[in-house]
Amino acid sequence: MIVCLCTGTSDRTVRRLVEEGATTVREIGQHTDGAGSHCGSCCCDLKRMLATPDADSATPGGEPKLMVLRR
Ligand code: FES
Repeated sequence: MIVCLCTGTSDRTVRRLVEEGATTVREIGQHTDGAGSHCGSCCCDLKRMLATPDADSATPGGEPKLMVLRR
């Protein structure tokens, strides 16, 4: 799933960066085309992924979560 529409950064890329040691949105941006640093609407999602790196992209009931991306 694309997390940052401005840069086309996927949740997989963000999770990989977090596993490799990224701890801030800025660091994620530095290793992508600037995820989180253009319109900024994905910053909350990036922060959530930084705070809960092991969280699955599905809810406990197995239904996929809808991610609302604002412009
Ligand atoms: S959607 Fe990520 S910076 Fe715009």
